[in-house]
Amino acid sequence: MSDHDQLKLTKMDYRPDRPKAENPIKIEDLTFRDGHQSLFGTRGRTEDMIPVAEMMDEIGYWAMETWGGATFDTMHRYLNEDPWERIRTLKKYLKKTPFSMLLRGQNLVGYRNYADDVAKEFVERACANGMDIFRTFDALNDYRNFEAVVPVIKKNGKHFQGVICYSMTEPRMGGEVYNLDYYVKKGKELEAMGADTICIKDMAGLIAPYDAYAIVKALKKTVKPPIHLHSHTTSGMAALAELKAIEAGVDIVDTCMAPYAGRTSHPAIEPLVMTLLGTNRDTGFDIRKLVAIDEILEKDIVPKYMHLLDDTKLSTIDINVLLHQTPGGMISNLVNQLRQMDAIHRIGDVYKELPRVRKELGQVPLVTPTSQIVGIQTVNNVLFDDEKERYKMITAQVKDLVFGLYGKTATPIDKEVQKKALKGYPRGEKPFGGRPAEIIDPELDKAKKDVLDTGLGKDIDDVLIYALYPVTGTKFLKWKYGKEPVPDEVKPKSLEQALKEREMMKKAREGLLVEKVVKKAPPKGEGLRTFNVFVEDDYFEVGVEEVGGAPVISFARPAAAPTAAPKPAAAPAAAPKPAAAPKAAAAPKAVSVEGGTPMLAPMPGMIVRYEKKVGDAVKAGDTVLILESMKMENAMNAPCDGTIKEIPYGPGDSVGKDAVLAVIG
Ligand code: CO
Repeated sequence: MSDHDQLKLTKMDYRPDRPKAENPIKIEDLTFRDGHQSLFGTRGRTEDMIPVAEMMDEIGYWAMETWGGATFDTMHRYLNEDPWERIRTLKKYLKKTPFSMLLRGQNLVGYRNYADDVAKEFVERACANGMDIFRTFDALNDYRNFEAVVPVIKKNGKHFQGVICYSMTEPRMGGEVYNLDYYVKKGKELEAMGADTICIKDMAGLIAPYDAYAIVKALKKTVKPPIHLHSHTTSGMAALAELKAIEAGVDIVDTCMAPYAGRTSHPAIEPLVMTLLGTNRDTGFDIRKLVAIDEILEKDIVPKYMHLLDDTKLSTIDINVLLHQTPGGMISNLVNQLRQMDAIHRIGDVYKELPRVRKELGQVPLVTPTSQIVGIQTVNNVLFDDEKERYKMITAQVKDLVFGLYGKTATPIDKEVQKKALKGYPRGEKPFGGRPAEIIDPELDKAKKDVLDTGLGKDIDDVLIYALYPVTGTKFLKWKYGKEPVPDEVKPKSLEQALKEREMMKKAREGLLVEKVVKKAPPKGEGLRTFNVFVEDDYFEVGVEEVGGAPVISFARPAAAPTAAPKPAAAPAAAPKPAAAPKAAAAPKAVSVEGGTPMLAPMPGMIVRYEKKVGDAVKAGDTVLILESMKMENAMNAPCDGTIKEIPYGPGDSVGKDAVLAVIG
């Protein structure tokens, strides 16, 4: 067993000027991007990075991730911050450490494939504003989605980091698709594309330590570019996986500062520095400098974000992820979706159906947006299919995936599902096999006209904000140039305000905010019986004790999650607290269904558009309207032949489950 000997212990030495290791592990810090994205819904503000930025610059990181992923969206939408400005501002404080960003291939920093002209201009501007390393990934590992952006990265002399999204279909690496050969093959493809480094991106925290070891060993043997491992602590394995990867010779790993580490985030840097101290992979970092940064973060910064943390459970490890090999975020989405449809008791069926749907849809990796696409289709199948027919309600996004709009799936799509999904699909009933962006018309000129000619914005960076996010981008540009007042909810909060709010929240939770006489509870007696009480989504455990013949309630405490659900093995994880509250549904409309057949909403959602109007003749199966639910669009088809008698709603209206969407007579 010589593997462990690779970490040769030379001499214990804390001094920052200790002898340099033979092959020091390089570290990318993620505190300013994936760290707050994972823990605090990407709500980190630039002003909360500045206080530690210069100190971070002194640590000796290989790179710091400062941009990309969800930051662009969140900043302009929720923080009233210009995303481009963040790069320029941070550059003033971080003068030595290269900046890294997460680039979603042709999706850039959005959720759909953009046209080539937008993609190229975006990367051009990211380079000009100061980005150095482009961690580029595609949800399907289809590298044709890199073809537009990589030449621009290269032309600007910047670093192209090619990503392999880590995925699995078995409890550990292996099986027919995501086995060692798959990862080696993908590594070779990236090397051939000119990758400066290759990153194994384990976005769901699924990689097991010995699998990390095997992949790194194999890649180090077959490809030349340095290997980088990115993982999340969701399942509790990431720090172990990184250590095994280091033993296997990985070149770079990702970490966060301790206050931003753990849970769904990343391993902390501090224990790694101590673990490797005095070995041939010693980071060379000064632990005291790290601790000084931690103290500032802990005291002055993190309290502003604590309310965004999911603290409904004591456990910081998501055991469901280990059980289902499914990203934690995807599981909480499924749970939320089922709750909205009053069907949380079907979670066990959803777990059973999920691998089947994923297989039929080409064993895609489960990462945004594919995790959402597979997850929602699975829920639709569980709720709406019967023994006679599967895939009764196929979302528009599944149709796009089947058509090939996202790229090539790992395995071919099931033939039956393909036929059904593409029946009447507007782009054609035969899948398109080309590079997805080939069929997207240029978008940049129109965006320029919309922004520059109208005075909505002033430069190309404004144009790109609009091109990527037309609706929220327009709103942001109006705030930016003072055409509309900035709403209070997007303004920054001071530490004092944040602490005050937390205090109030705590009181509210304890029921102390209402004028209520707090009566000391009597000691619990032997006759105490416990009842579960469900008030809509809230669950209380209530103790009832008979006193003098009449039952009185002696304690009632809210419980985190209905763990007493009928199927304990599949009990869902508690929904994350910062989950957006569903928009209030429009009041149900009084609709006369007399002499007609009502079309009922099978789930709550928002009307995207009606494709028919009152008086139109329809045949059974014709699409009458599109209903958006959980960001997926669902075609609602006529249940029978007839004429549309009534359409009670319009585009943008939110509807509850069982709302009458149309009447056919
Ligand atoms: Co990540």
